[in-house]
Parts: sequence; structure tokens; C-alpha cells
Amino acid sequence: MPAFDHFSAIASIYARVTYSKANLMREVAALPVAGKLLDVGGGTGRVASAICDLVDEVIITDVSFGMLDKADRSAFKPVCGGSESLPFADNSFERVIMVDALHHVIDQVDSAREMLRVLKPGGLLVIEEPDIRTFGVKLIAIAEKLLLMRSHFLAPDQIVKLFPDQETNIRVEDGTAWIIIKK
Ligand SMILES: C[S@@+](CC[C@H](N)C(=O)[O-])C[C@H]1O[C@@H](n2cnc3c(N)ncnc32)[C@H](O)[C@@H]1O
Repeated sequence: MPAFDHFSAIASIYARVTYSKANLMREVAALPVAGKLLDVGGGTGRVASAICDLVDEVIITDVSFGMLDKADRSAFKPVCGGSESLPFADNSFERVIMVDALHHVIDQVDSAREMLRVLKPGGLLVIEEPDIRTFGVKLIAIAEKLLLMRSHFLAPDQIVKLFPDQETNIRVEDGTAWIIIKK
């Protein structure tokens, strides 16, 4: 748990922001699919709301209770916890996604290992991140540093290196990168 939870402080703002990249997520995550999807660092359920009709069940996990508190409990099961140690059995989910959260986690290596562990063989893990190679995202990175947000952005090829033995693909569009990992 971070010393100060920035996201709890802005959760009510986040809850009003809609996810505009649902069509791309649908494509890169090969949705719809029968089974369960885990949204890691899923916050208020902004992304999950946009894709929940494409899977049988969505579980959101996030370290910020304040963010999870805004999630629609009738649509998803919220689970509070860090991505570095996910409270799920091995091979539990057909899809695992993480949107705009990898740069916020405390340990990216542990988070990558855990997301892969809970993914079923043959399943897809999709990580969406702002592309740090672009000028706008570099400015965001500086702003988040000034706000003491502990952000640590990785370029797409660095994210791929977190998954050395997996089949991976990168898609980049308009300052956003999707890293697609097949288990
Ligand atoms: C920028 S928000 C994105 C939320 C959501 N994915 C979305 O796109 O609306 C980043 C989220 O990552 C969560 N987070 C940060 N560190 C985390 C960790 N170690 N484990 C799980 N969630 C974490 C924050 O609490 C926050 O809800």
C-alpha cells in the first residue's frame, strides 16, 4: 500500500471519465471470449464497464480502496490488493488486462510474473500503457514525478522484456502502446 494513495483522492473524478479505446481493447484482447477477465489496477471499473458484456465475468483488483469503492458492484467483483501478489489461483483467467497502471505499481517484475501466473494457458494478457517515447507522455511523467506519484514508465520493448519466454506483440497508436502476451 503506498504511503499516500493519490488515486483515492481523485477517485470521484476518475469515476466520471469514460474509456475511449474499447474497440481497440476488444481487438487486441480478442474479445468476446467465454470465461473470466481480470482487470489489474482496474480502479473505478472505467475500462471494465466498457468491455464487461464481452466476457462471462469481470473481476477488478486494485490497491486503492477509494478507487474500488466507486466500482459498480452489481457488474464486477472488486478485490483490493497489489498486483505484486495477486490473491488468485494459478491459471484462473482467460484474459488479464492492465490499463494505464504498470507505471504506477511498486514492482513491475513481480506484477508481470503474477499476471502471467493467474492467466490460463492459451489466454491473453494485455497491458495498455502511455508510450513514454512520445513528448506528451514525457511531460506527464515529469508531472507525476512532481506529484510524488512514484511513476516509472517503461517503453514497449522494455515491457516485452518482462515476459522473456512468451509470445508477445506490440501495437502502438496515438501515444498509447498495447503489449499483448500469449501464455
Ligand atoms: C491511472 S489509474 C488507471 C485505473 C484504470 N485501469 C483505468 O484505466 O481507469 C492507475 C490505477 O493503478 C492502481 N495501482 C497502483 N499501484 C498498484 C498496484 N501495485 N497494484 C494494483 N493496482 C495498483 C491505482 O490505485 C489506480 O487505480
